[in-house]
This record gives sequence, C-alpha cells and structure tokens, in this order.
Amino acid sequence: MSKLDRIDKAKLPKHLAVIMDGNGRWAKKHGLFRTKGHESGTKAVKEIVEGAAELGIPFLTLYAFSTENWNRPKLEVQTLMKLLVSSLKKEVETLQKNNIRLGAIGALNDLPSKARAELNEVIEATKDNERMTLTLALSYGSREEITKTIKEISSKVKNNIISIEEIDEDVINKHLYTLNLPDVDLLIRTSGEQRISNFLLWQIAYAELYFTEVLWPDFRKEHLLEAILNYQNRERRFGKTSEQLN
Ligand code: FPP
Repeated sequence: MSKLDRIDKAKLPKHLAVIMDGNGRWAKKHGLFRTKGHESGTKAVKEIVEGAAELGIPFLTLYAFSTENWNRPKLEVQTLMKLLVSSLKKEVETLQKNNIRLGAIGALNDLPSKARAELNEVIEATKDNERMTLTLALSYGSREEITKTIKEISSKVKNNIISIEEIDEDVINKHLYTLNLPDVDLLIRTSGEQRISNFLLWQIAYAELYFTEVLWPDFRKEHLLEAILNYQNRERRFGKTSEQLN
C-alpha cells in the first residue's frame, strides 16, 4: 500500500506548522551561496503547500522569517525579502487555482514596504478562498507576540475595557497574531535540529513534534506523508490517561 493510501483522511492534523530549516547547509553541501539555498527552499514551499491542500489539511503555517533573522547579513535579509516578493507575485495564481487563502503573522510593520504591499495584495486577492489557509510567519517571534498581547490586554484593563478576572485563555488567544487559527496539531522541523526557535510557543502546547534530518530544499510530498503517518500513529492524550481515551 502506498504512503498516501495508508493515510487516514479522518485523522489529519487540522493545523500543521513547519519550521523550514537547512537552506544554508543544503547550499553548502552543493557548493553554492546560501542565497541559492533559500531559492531552492521556495520550490519546497510550493510542493508542500500543494501537498497539504491536496491532502485536505485546513491550516498550514510556515516559519519563513523570524524576528531573530533580521540579524543575518544584510545581503541575505535582502535576498529573503526579494524572494518573498517574487514568490508572492509568481504564486498568486497557484493559490487561486488551489482555492488557498493567504494570511500572515508577525511584526509585519517591520517588513520593507514593497514586501508588505505585495503581501497585502495577495491576502486581499485570496481572502474568499476556502480549501486551506496558508499562513506565513514573517518577522515572527513568539516572545514578541506574547509581549504585544500582554501590552494590549493590560491597556484594556487600564482603560476599564475588561477586568483582570475576565482574562482567560480565550482572551489571550484573541490577542495573539494567530487569533483566527486553531492550536497547532503537528509541528515539523527539518534539517535535524531539535528545537522550537521562538515559534508559536503558546499555540504548540499540545502539538506533536516531528523532527526529520531532511534539509528543507529536499523536502518533498513523500516526506510530508511520512510525517503525517508518524503523527497518525501517536496517541494524543491531552493530559488524560490511555484508558480514558478508549
Ligand atoms: C532556514 O534555513 C530558512 C530560513 C531562515 C528562511 C526560509 C525561507 C524560505 C524557505 C524561502 C522563502 C520563503 C517563502 C515563503 C517565499 P537556514 O538558512 O537557517 O539554514 P541553515 O540552518 O542550514 O543555515
């Protein structure tokens, strides 16, 4: 039976998040500049977006640029921003054809105006699409998001808009960048690194974590299927016992 046939369509992760790591090492392995690694990474992005939509995963979130990535060499940051703009221009049709809605999370005001404008254009153009929501985490850091959330809620308390007693998980969820997304079910990180790197810390509270040695530019649909099969073989207990689940 093929991997695809072994996948239980009723047990797909509702929200899949991916830390796309290993572009630089992939480039080095092939004797290329780091920027070529990112360029190849965009091909993997296209493949995984299409693959997730075909499978029927409703929410896919990709860690494309972190708050910490601003500290990379200027040329690399510029290349990543240029790649973002060119990919958005090039792939808007693919998104429309596949009925995919684009969203973005992060400190988006820190993006160069060209990138922000292109992003907003594609978000607007795809806003009625319903098959899958693709969210790009751009200039995203979980600590920045949580800090922003605390500031916003504190200000509402100060201005008597809500009381301290009213603050609960739901209120916090509604102030995060991810307010319109469900909790993450499966988090994939490529390239063999086993850490979270400031990505969706609140939202992955009960996510299954999947680490693979595959470098991001080499990540293909079959690797996605492998990760999902692995996920489907796990028992998600959410703090309960096995017996309670059965
Ligand atoms: C990590 O690899 C990857 C990134 C920092 C950026 C991810 C960007 C892309 C895949 C391309 C652009 C994306 C879109 C959505 C158009 P790394 O550079 O940290 O690799 P290394 O750890 O091997 O050096």
